[in-house]
Amino acid sequence: MNENNHVILIGYMGAGKSTVGIELARKLNREYIDLDTEIVLSEKKQIPDIFEELGEPYFRAAEAQVLRAVKGEKVISTGGGVLYFQDTGRWMKKNGTVIYLNAPFEELYERIAGDGNRPLVMNNTAASLEQVFYQRDIVYREAADLIVSVSECSVEYTLDEIIVKLTT
Ligand code: S3P
Repeated sequence: MNENNHVILIGYMGAGKSTVGIELARKLNREYIDLDTEIVLSEKKQIPDIFEELGEPYFRAAEAQVLRAVKGEKVISTGGGVLYFQDTGRWMKKNGTVIYLNAPFEELYERIAGDGNRPLVMNNTAASLEQVFYQRDIVYREAADLIVSVSECSVEYTLDEIIVKLTT
């Protein structure tokens, strides 16, 4: 039996997981959890500081731990690298419906370029971020129950599409 019944948003940086998640939680009348915010609260450090002072593997472990601590029927937006931690995809499948918010790399890159709060963006070239995008796209697709295109879409349109897919 499933322990929890969350709606979990996954996808690359800039896909709008937090923006969509907040509105989706409102529409579904569920509590909203932003995993990045939860990590900042539990570690009492900003994400770039966690990466710099404690390293990326530490961040990934903290992310996995914080995710597994979420109980009930929440809407959860995750960080783009959440699936790096072993078994997280399997945990998600058992604990809710996983929705991949998908858009072309070029569109996502326009939204994230120069963002100092995203260590991956600050520490990598556009070319290597693109490579990471294609590697992750495969992993996101494998983990997802539903794939929703957010390319050139308003938040309202995306929400309607998610709600239709969730209820049919
Ligand atoms: C990361 C994405 C970020 C945040 C961290 C690492 C990643 O979240 O978790 O900077 O590896 O893609 P967003 O996807 O919300 O930007």
